Amino acid sequence: MKTLLHVGCGAETRHHLTPGFRGDGWREIRLDIDPAVKPDLIGTITDMSAVADGSVDALYSSHNLEHIYHHEVPQALDEFFRVLKPGGFVVLTCPDLQSVCAQVAKGRLLEPLYTAPAGPISALDILYGHEKKLAMGKSYMAHKCGFTWQSLCHHFEQAGFYWQVGGARPQYFDLWLLAFNDEVPEEVRMQHAALYLPS
Ligand SMILES: C[S@@+](CC[C@H](N)C(=O)[O-])C[C@H]1O[C@@H](n2cnc3c(N)ncnc32)[C@H](O)[C@@H]1O
Repeated sequence: MKTLLHVGCGAETRHHLTPGFRGDGWREIRLDIDPAVKPDLIGTITDMSAVADGSVDALYSSHNLEHIYHHEVPQALDEFFRVLKPGGFVVLTCPDLQSVCAQVAKGRLLEPLYTAPAGPISALDILYGHEKKLAMGKSYMAHKCGFTWQSLCHHFEQAGFYWQVGGARPQYFDLWLLAFNDEVPEEVRMQHAALYLPS
């Protein structure tokens, strides 16, 4: 069985994961800074010392990297790289600042851009964090940085990751990235993209 480290996991539900990770072949370890979501490991992505070097096959991070400061991103990605086994990979999604800012440039800051399970989401929510959760005192839900596809790839390259597959989905205002910590043949990259990225 393969091991998936799910960071910034939020409340438990396998629906957070892309279909490739939902099967019986994966054992999920959930890590989050918020004890209320009952993670297996309570902690921050900038220091995952509870996770041994080279101990997981894959790492999944959904709408989590923007919750740390930009200067902390290299620290978190070094941690992602450290915990992966050789041949391991990361699947990550986060807001796409380029498509969000295109809406802001049109004057659409507060209007809902789409509706999430948590309710209507505006450009302001995407840029700075979900207003309703912040109003509840959940300060760790603030967005402290953001990415374009180019800047996200740059960070992953700096951290030593080889191959980045994915891109922006402007209609959903998000980025999806699949990155490997080793050289892998083109066909393996494409197989993983089909399995672990949204279609
Ligand atoms: C917007 S929620 C995303 C939850 C889930 N991954 C999803 O996509 O629905 C962000 C999650 O990141 C967690 N978080 C915030 N800062 C964190 C940090 N420094 N390290 C680990 N988790 C963090 C929050 O507690 C929250 O569960």
